[in-house]
Amino acid sequence: IFNRPWIFIRGVPSMKFLPPAGPAEIAFAGRSNVGKSSLINALVQQTGLARTSNTPGRTQELNYFVPDGYNGDMGDLPPIALVDMPGYGYAEAPKAQVDAWTALVFDYLRGRPTLKRVYVLIDSRHGIKKNDEDVLKLLDKAAVSYQIVLTKTDKIKPPAVEKLVRDTAALLAKHPAAYPEILATSSEKSSGLDELRQAIVTVINQ
Ligand code: GTP
Ligand code: MG
Repeated sequence: IFNRPWIFIRGVPSMKFLPPAGPAEIAFAGRSNVGKSSLINALVQQTGLARTSNTPGRTQELNYFVPDGYNGDMGDLPPIALVDMPGYGYAEAPKAQVDAWTALVFDYLRGRPTLKRVYVLIDSRHGIKKNDEDVLKLLDKAAVSYQIVLTKTDKIKPPAVEKLVRDTAALLAKHPAAYPEILATSSEKSSGLDELRQAIVTVINQ
């Protein structure tokens, strides 16, 4: 499915604009600037599909991406949508706007029946912060399956990545909805992407 071209189909500014529930949705959540949009582009190998920026607060809606030809020849592939999300935490935007994005993210994560898996992205340089913890707790409570993806591993040394993987895995022991395996990725160096693609394929085939 990741060898096909993907297209952007819809930007959702608030819950009432969500598309009708249908395909299995795989969402990418995380603090502003953690690399959500870059990771989606790297997964589908299409630079510029999801808009990225140096400035936190780039993605401002729930952006839906589907394989091209979605309504046509999908063979026996199960229907899937990748959902890029606004970041939570710091963003270069007025507070009211940031609060609205955060509310949208939280409402979507806890109330979308077709949401099959959330990838919670964590910047390798920072590890899990308080607002990440809040999101993990929300997902536990809503019983939404999630998995942690470390991003930007090219920015730290390999032993530091290994230690972060171990520490993060230990922390997940008290999170019932967390998938235990931590994925370490770099969109920049295209590392860890095949493992993530495989994990997504496994989820949508369940
Ligand atoms: P918001 O939409 O603002 O919440 O940000 P985002 O999480 O979508 O992050 P985005 O993909 O826009 O990337 C933010 C910045 O991090 C950009 O400058 C990217 O080039 C950079 N970045 C993303 N992934 C990587 C990575 O694997 N390695 C390095 N070195 N930089 C990365
Ligand atoms: Mg983004």
